[in-house]
Formats: sequence, C-alpha cells, structure tokens
Amino acid sequence: MAKSRVQFICQSCGAVHQRWAGKCDACGEWNTLVEEGTAGGIGSGPASTRNARKGRAVALTTLSGDIEDAPRIVSGIGELDRATGGGFVRGSALLVGGDPGIGKSTLLTQAAAALAMKGHRVVYVSGEEAVAQIRLRAQRLGAAASPVELAAETNVEDILATIADGRRPDLVILDSIQTLWTDMADSAPGTVTQVRAAAQAMIRYAKSTGAAIVLVGHVTKEGQIAGPRVVEHMVDAVLYFEGEGGHHYRILRTVKNRFGPTDEIGVFEMSDKGLREVANPSELFLGERHAKAPGAAVFAGMEGTRPVLVEIQALVAPSSLGTPRRAVVGWDGARLSMILAVLESHCGVRFGQHDVYLNVAGGYRITEPAADLAVAAALVSSLTGLALPADCVYFGEISLSGAVRPVAHAQQRLKEAEKLGFGSAVLPLGNPKGGEENAGGIGAGAFQPTELSDLVARIAGSRRSRAVEEN
Ligand code: TYD
Ligand code: MG
Repeated sequence: MAKSRVQFICQSCGAVHQRWAGKCDACGEWNTLVEEGTAGGIGSGPASTRNARKGRAVALTTLSGDIEDAPRIVSGIGELDRATGGGFVRGSALLVGGDPGIGKSTLLTQAAAALAMKGHRVVYVSGEEAVAQIRLRAQRLGAAASPVELAAETNVEDILATIADGRRPDLVILDSIQTLWTDMADSAPGTVTQVRAAAQAMIRYAKSTGAAIVLVGHVTKEGQIAGPRVVEHMVDAVLYFEGEGGHHYRILRTVKNRFGPTDEIGVFEMSDKGLREVANPSELFLGERHAKAPGAAVFAGMEGTRPVLVEIQALVAPSSLGTPRRAVVGWDGARLSMILAVLESHCGVRFGQHDVYLNVAGGYRITEPAADLAVAAALVSSLTGLALPADCVYFGEISLSGAVRPVAHAQQRLKEAEKLGFGSAVLPLGNPKGGEENAGGIGAGAFQPTELSDLVARIAGSRRSRAVEEN
C-alpha cells in the first residue's frame, strides 16, 4: 500500500513540492507553501490500488455529427450577457473573480434576482455572509421580492443534497469557492486542494444535470488562500471583475470562454442602489480627463491577454538647471531617454533646455514597448502646447532609426478603444486597420505613420489648421 506522505502545495500557483521552502520555485512567490495531506480522495492520486477496478470501454465517435447550439439563460443585464457571450450556458461552470469588495456578490445578486423574476429556479449559496446580510443587500438592490432560493452553507455534500431537492435549478451561484469544503479532501478550507476538490464536485454536478453554476473567487494578494487561478483550467468560462481604487466604474472582463469570444468587456457603475449598466463607457472614462489639455495621449495597451486603455501624461517645461530633469512614474526611464533621443535626432524636436515629466495615470505600470508612440505624442503635444484629439488612441513601437514598428494584438487594442468610445487611432503601418467588420469603425479614421517624424509633422500641422479655422 502506498505510504501516506505530506506534500507542500503553493497556494498561489498550485505547484507541489516535497519539502517546505520559503519561496515557491515555480512562481517565485514567498511564504505560499502550505502542508496538505495526500491521504486520498480528490486532489491527490488514488488512495490505494487494492480496490482499483477494471476500466470500462467507452464508445469512440467522430468530429462531425449533430450538435446543438449552447442553450443559454439570458439574464437581461446587457453588460453581463455581453461578457458571458450571450448569457449563462446550461451545464457549464463560470468563474467570476475579483478583489474582495469589488462588487461580485452585488452583481450576482442582481443577476439572480433578474433570472428568478423570469421564472427560472435560481439558488444562491453564500458561504461568506449570513442570510440576514444577504437579505439586507437584496433590499438595498430592490430585489427582495424576487423568488431566489437562498442558503448559507459551505459543505459541498450538503449543498448538493439541498439543490437535488425539487425541480432542477437553472442557475446555482456559489459565493465563494474559498469557503467551500468537501468531505472528499482533508485539507483546510481555502487551500488549493479543497478549492479544487470542491470546484470539481460542483462542476461534475453542472455537467451531469445541465444546471449552470457560477463560482465566485476572491483574488488574493498574498496567496494565503488559494486564488481563482487554481480553478481557471477546470471551468468553462472565466470573468474578472475589476475596478480602480477610488473610482465608481467596474469592468467585467472575459478571460476565458469556451462558448464565446474572450475579448469582451462589460462596464458597470457602482451606485447606492447596486450596479448600474453603463451604456456609453467613454462618458465615464473621458469624464475624468482634461481632453483639451496638451500633453495627454491615450495608449491602447495590453495587460497579458487583456486590453487596457491608459492615459499617458507628459509635462515639458523650460528648465533652469544645467542638466534638465527627467522624471518618470509608471514607465521605464531608460525608454523615455531613448524616445527623447529619437525625437531630437530624427524629428528635430529639441528637449535640451527642458525638464521632462512623464506620468501614467491611475497608478498603472506599463512595460510594453508599444507605448512608445503614445509617449512621443504626449511629449510633442506638451512641448508645442497643442492638445491631441480627445477621441484618439495611440500604440506602436519606435526604433532607434525613427521608424514606427508594428506591435501584437492590434485588433484587440482597436476593439477595446472602439468599445470605450474612441473614434480614431494612430498605429503602425504594418498593423492592419481592422477586419471587414471593423471597416466602418475606428479603422476608417486611423493614421498610420511609417516614421515618427510623420506623427510629429501631423501634430505640428494641427496648429496651422486651427489657425485657419479661427480666421
Ligand atoms: P460586494 O458585492 O459585497 O463585493 P464582493 O462580493 O466582491 O466582495 O460589494 C461590496 C461593496 O459594494 C461595498 O463596499 C459596498 C458597495 N455597494 C454599494 O456601493 N452599493 C450597493 O448597492 C451595494 C449592494 C454595495
Ligand atoms: Mg461577496
């Protein structure tokens, strides 16, 4: 019989180690290894080989054959349906991740209420809040009258027994996976083994009954409890709910979707009566910008596989110092020096007598070279005092020769910009403006310089056209 050993599992990435160590070799995080038993059950290999049964042959089939469209349950909350690719899919598991307090429970309570009002059987299981707390939230959201079935429970076997009673639910919401635990695994709740085992049991339930399930997962900073990443591979779709500290807007982003596109976002605003859909996100986004101020350019960036729009702000001011100051927040200082050198030597723009300050708004950090073009545009705009068009986004890499080079994911960047209400773009010539479906959109107004000097000439040229308009 196999010896029962202990293992150390990284709570951040799920890597298994035989010995404890301060740092996980796999992901480089510190203090994330936790001892978890391997006594058997889900989460570890089979406990023993004594009662191993002989395999049963399954029927092999072909790739072609009858298929049905994924049957969907539409919530009626437009931005949510957009992010899920057209509604919750029956028999599938959806993971909604996000920072604690971002509004996951609020969003799902609203979705649950909307679906229950339409006559679907919706079960909301909370492991974090007491029934009274959830009722209070429902009251605040004006959803208290909807026939959502509610339970405060954390044990997976009990939950399964509860929902097996009566008509098969259309949607089961589990808030959150970190509080769930199953008898099948003997680790503490919140550990990788428990989270995976509990999620596995619920996913098996969804596949076998055809109910849609939603798992809520908190993104964890220190990795002390297992994050949603450790179940991302098991579920059919992953949505992340994000927001910036201090702002009211929230973005629901599709990271993975087996039944729909992954480059969709849903935009909401948190109000005192819950989440409100934002039909035109650019209003929110541009509301905080001073569109008329020189020195600001919107960069259409990518964060991993996700597009993000960030404002880059530059201030170029006459210097009284022998060696002018160069200060950067949120970008690479060496890269800024490079852009300044290219502007000086290939475009005839002089910064020698000026201090240069560069800031990436919202506390973001950009590591992509694709931000070069936006940075150059912001610098030239600030130096000349000419504001850039407010509805334009910039991306592209600049080489030392002054050429503008193509970057990856142009389509996704343009799509995000279009979604957020931007009407034009400046991008490298090597990048296509967009597919057929994009022809009438942002691609139509795109400017594609081959050299950085073309862009500088265009910005400087806007002074002339403005003077003509004024006369
Ligand atoms: P919640 O959905 O509990 O977050 P999560 O489940 O992601 O941890 O929402 C928490 C925040 O939302 C909380 O700080 C209060 C705020 N909120 C509102 O501003 N308006 C509302 O109507 C509700 C219900 C919550
Ligand atoms: Mg919650």
